[in-house]
Parts: sequence; structure tokens; C-alpha cells
Amino acid sequence: MSARVSQGLFITFEGGEGAGKSTQIRRLHARLEALSIKTHVTREPGGTPGAELIRALILDGKRPALDALTETLLFYAARANHLAELIRPALAKGDVVLCDRFSDSTRVYQGVLGAVPSVVVEQLEALVVAETKPDVTIILDIPPETGLARASARRGSHQADRFESETLEFHKNLRQGFLDLAERDSDRIIVIPALGNEVSIENEIWQKLASRFPLFQGHRA
Ligand code: TYD
Repeated sequence: MSARVSQGLFITFEGGEGAGKSTQIRRLHARLEALSIKTHVTREPGGTPGAELIRALILDGKRPALDALTETLLFYAARANHLAELIRPALAKGDVVLCDRFSDSTRVYQGVLGAVPSVVVEQLEALVVAETKPDVTIILDIPPETGLARASARRGSHQADRFESETLEFHKNLRQGFLDLAERDSDRIIVIPALGNEVSIENEIWQKLASRFPLFQGHRA
């Protein structure tokens, strides 16, 4: 029998390209599984068959450009489906959900950098996400030069996606946008410097979670 957290626990990971989110999600997942805590690993845009279809459309590097509002609505369409079919049912069962990107990405990529007024993003947020806000958000912070080099090495000969191919300036603003969000919402958002080795970053994440949630206590590395 797997352990359940009474209301579930919704943890999101954010950061620029190549910050190591998927590695850290995999490591946290392994630790939670080792404790028999039922955990779902998912991502945005995507996470359900319907939302993955929308993801393919959004990230298609060859499609015609879309105006910023249309693109933002596509992210929220994917999110609505993801919440309805995966995130809310999992949390209702008391499971842990680890999500690679969520609303803070929209706030920064589309809101701060994408010319959609923040008030529009907030309205969509109230409509689509409503009460299902993350319990905690971990921002993995690295200089964009490093992140882009990692993303490019990972990609190999594949074409850069819609956002990877933006300028260095864009990625610097992106980093600042996430740090500004963290400053405004320090109760929910934890910033972790992510240039160090994978294991020490994993341990730091665990310790930060342990300081907030009983679930992680007593299982220190
Ligand atoms: P992905 O390949 O998953 O990027 P990463 O590995 O960096 O997470 O592609 C998702 C891209 O979509 C990424 O560049 C960030 C962007 N994005 C937004 O612009 N708005 C959003 O709301 C979300 C969830 C992602």
C-alpha cells in the first residue's frame, strides 16, 4: 500500500531552459517512491493526451507565429485539461504531483516577456487554476548562458523549439522574471541555485521541503 498525504501535495518546478528540472524531478520522484509515497510526474504544456496535442502545436518550431494572446490561451487550454484529467484527481486521492513547469512559466514567458498584460494572465489563472495552486514551487536558478548551452547539447542536431531559439537577452529577462516572482511570493516559491552537482541540489531541495512539510521530515539524506 502506498502512503497518501491527506490533501495531496502539488509541487511545481520552474526555471529557464536547461536548468535541470527534469533531473531533479526524477531524483525527488525516486526518493518519494522509495518511501512508498504515491507520486505522479507530469509536465506543462502537456501531461495528458489532449494537452500533449496542444503542446505539439505550441512548440512546433516551424509553425507560423501566433499573436501572444492566442498562444497564452493555448497554454491555458492545455492546463485546463491537465488539471481536470490528472492533477485534481491525483490530489483528491491524496497523492503527490510533481509538475515540470506550471502557471509561473505563463506569468513570466507570456506575461512579463510576451506582451500579454499581467491582468489578463491573472484572469485566466483565476478561471482555469482557481484553487488548485501549487503548495510549493521550486525555481532552479542558473545563468542563461549555461542553461542554453546545456539545452543545445541535449538537443543535438534537432531544431531549437519556439522558446529555445529566443535571444540571450530574452533568457536573461526570463531569469529576472522568475526571481521577481519569487521575491513577491516567498511563502510559496523557493529559489535553488542550480549550478552545483546534482546530488547536492537534490539534498537541498529535500531539506527545503522538509522544513515545510512533515511528509519529508525524518528522511534526511
Ligand atoms: P520544454 O521543452 O518542456 O522546455 P524546458 O525543458 O525548458 O521545460 O518546453 C516548454 C517550453 O514552453 C519552455 O520553453 C517554456 C515554455 N512555456 C511557456 O512559454 N509558457 C507556459 O505556460 C509553459 C508551461 C511553458
